[in-house]
Amino acid sequence: MKILITGATSGIGRQVAVDYHKLGHEVWAVGRNGQALDELSSLGLRTGQVDLTDSAATLAWFSTLDSIDLAILNAGTCEYVDMPKFDSALVIRVMRANVESLAICLEGVLPLLRKSSTPHLAVVGSSAAYVPLPRAEAYGSSKAAVAYMVETLRIALAKEKIAVSLICPGFVKTPLTDLNDFPMPFRITVDQASDYIRKGLARKKAEIHFPKRFTSMLKFLSYLPRPIWRKIAEQMVKG
Ligand SMILES: NC(=O)c1ccc[n+]([C@@H]2O[C@H](COP(=O)([O-])OP(=O)(O)OC[C@H]3O[C@@H](n4cnc5c(N)ncnc54)[C@H](OP(=O)(O)O)[C@@H]3O)[C@@H](O)[C@H]2O)c1
Repeated sequence: MKILITGATSGIGRQVAVDYHKLGHEVWAVGRNGQALDELSSLGLRTGQVDLTDSAATLAWFSTLDSIDLAILNAGTCEYVDMPKFDSALVIRVMRANVESLAICLEGVLPLLRKSSTPHLAVVGSSAAYVPLPRAEAYGSSKAAVAYMVETLRIALAKEKIAVSLICPGFVKTPLTDLNDFPMPFRITVDQASDYIRKGLARKKAEIHFPKRFTSMLKFLSYLPRPIWRKIAEQMVKG
């Protein structure tokens, strides 16, 4: 398969890219970090250096490729809001990295997927979007927007037989979560995350969420009446 992965210079994306390459697939790894891209290139992966928030540069880069069988749009960031200041610049940064860059990538990658006989689009959201979590005004709402975009695209792309998967990880140990200053229950390694993702994609699952002992608990909480969830979340903030 010809596989394209954004956010492949670090964390989850890097591990998935390297694992698919080891399995013999042709992998395009996309990111900004030149040194990390050079390392991937020395392992035999194809690379693209582009800031995905730069629409013109990103679309120009995508237009240099021909077909893609599997696109994994994974690039993203996370920052938490610390009240009492509601930092709008932080919210804008997170939305730009997680939502606007995704829209730009979709415009670039869909024409490439349409040239494949087995097209598959996968987007990395987050289980954080299942329930309103403390301090996640920016991150959680960006991933809720990602989930909505993916679910609606799935409807539009069904008639073209383009498979669509939404990937919703729990906590995974990466440079991103190494910055977190709170307990991260059931945090898993990038190797485990890559296994879950590749197995789910092989089955063309609509939603790939893991580890289930964490994501199923969040899903359960999302079914509670919101006033009950709010009480629990308020206690989490106090604690
Ligand atoms: N780790 C978790 O626990 C967790 C849980 C749920 C969801 N996720 C999601 O999983 C994805 C990967 O997260 P991670 O933990 O692996 O984070 P990470 O190690 O920080 O990797 C983030 C990747 O995104 C790329 N990226 C960010 N902004 C970019 C931009 N403007 N242009 C191009 N590339 C950009 C980075 O590339 P450069 O460094 O080269 O710029 C890097 O390769 C994110 O979407 C994140 O929200 C992670």
